[in-house]
Amino acid sequence: MKQFPEGFLWGGATAANQYEGGWKEGGKGVSCSDVQLFTDPKSMKDLLNTHGLCDISDEMIEKALSTDDEVYYPKRHGIDFYHHYKEDIALLAGMGFKVYRMSIAWSRIFPRGDELEPNEEGLKFYDDVFDECLKYGMQPLVTMSHYEPPLAFCMDYNGWYDRRSIEFFTRYVDVITKRYKDKVKLWLTFNEIDSIIRHPFMTGGLIESRFKPEEFEEVEYQAMHHQFVASALAVKMTHENIPDAKVGCMLTKLTYYPYTCKPEDLLEQQQRMRQIYCYSDTQVHGEYPKYLLQMYKNKGFNIKMTDEDLEIMKKYPVDFISFSYYSSSCVAADTKGLEMSAGNTETAIKNPYIPSSDWGWQIDPIGLRISCVDLYDRYRKPLFIVENGLGAKDTVEEDGSINDDYRIDYLREHIRQMYKAIEEDGVELMGYTTWAPIDLLSNSTNQMSKRYGFIYVDVDDYGNGTYKRSKKKSYDWYKEVIATNGSSI
Ligand code: BG6
Repeated sequence: MKQFPEGFLWGGATAANQYEGGWKEGGKGVSCSDVQLFTDPKSMKDLLNTHGLCDISDEMIEKALSTDDEVYYPKRHGIDFYHHYKEDIALLAGMGFKVYRMSIAWSRIFPRGDELEPNEEGLKFYDDVFDECLKYGMQPLVTMSHYEPPLAFCMDYNGWYDRRSIEFFTRYVDVITKRYKDKVKLWLTFNEIDSIIRHPFMTGGLIESRFKPEEFEEVEYQAMHHQFVASALAVKMTHENIPDAKVGCMLTKLTYYPYTCKPEDLLEQQQRMRQIYCYSDTQVHGEYPKYLLQMYKNKGFNIKMTDEDLEIMKKYPVDFISFSYYSSSCVAADTKGLEMSAGNTETAIKNPYIPSSDWGWQIDPIGLRISCVDLYDRYRKPLFIVENGLGAKDTVEEDGSINDDYRIDYLREHIRQMYKAIEEDGVELMGYTTWAPIDLLSNSTNQMSKRYGFIYVDVDDYGNGTYKRSKKKSYDWYKEVIATNGSSI
């Protein structure tokens, strides 16, 4: 392979809720992630059910709040980046990262979400983190909201369902973009904004049991509307506060194939893909796609939106499109008797032509190329792959080495397809950040044993371990990929 385009941004991606820890330190408030219960999935059946991770009720939250337990609420400790950030950033920089994607925990800056003044200690923490990154010439790419709305915001306001969410979030955005204007030039508004439909609590701060089941879908789309407006305002504010900044949307690039060539299956696939694209269609084109409005009408939804909201959305679309891509799966009009597989925040029909990871996520590098082409042809704006990686069990050998060839294979094949998307298909790709360069907690299962990193962290599913960091075989491999700008592959 030849080199990637000059200036291609190689790096890795993490999120505060899964690695930061320090849940009660530095004035941080409790977030949604801090009350997520670890249910220790043992089988594929359990894994297919772990998306129930977002099943939440006031009783479950009360129970979580009555304890300081970190074993069954593991996102409270993560990998303790809070106390290890200097060491971790040095290790990431050691691979020659050009960019490091991370998120700011909203509840570290505004502990409840509705305060008028930010928490200075939280702001100072990220100042230190960004300074550390910049010291090594590694530019931060920052997600403003990655699965951790402040818990009080969810409990007292019903999260994003309440229109005041726009005010609270934009206050937070104004504070962070002013504060970090000289340090952060690349921003993403909401991680996987589409996921509000799949896990409404973590993304939208919605406690499902508070609503009538027949109303809940409408509630989700109302919350989504508030996020769209807040995201557009975040683009506006970021540009005003940091004129040379770029702001992207971020979507879960779920890629579906029709299970057979029956027209019904193809239609099902097309409909399903529209459900994926409706979010980026809105954030890129600045207006709701007709098919989404039609769906609201057909379902009798009354999503409250003002003319001013629509104007804001139109005026401030995103500058680029970022997305996560891990796997693909199939859809069919009739799913009876078909085998299902687990996937990124969803389950879908298993594709018999491609292998699966230990967690049942199907491995499909070509699907990444297809995704890049689809997105680029649809939007004609630069793309950024901000998550891609393999969650796998790693074994530490007696001599301490970790030979994760499976991870190298996965990444190599995806990078090859990414290269083809650029060189053969003409896709404009800004960069690639693997999920996750350092082991951290799984979002869907809350496990540590589902490891993604080039750097091993000695913690098990129950929080036992030394938290010591060590390099896996893939560390030097990725370092070489970056040093040669991709040509070592
Ligand atoms: C993405 C999320 O959906 O997938 C990450 O943005 C998440 O937060 C990643 O960690 C991988 O999923 P999981 O469940 O294996 O951690």
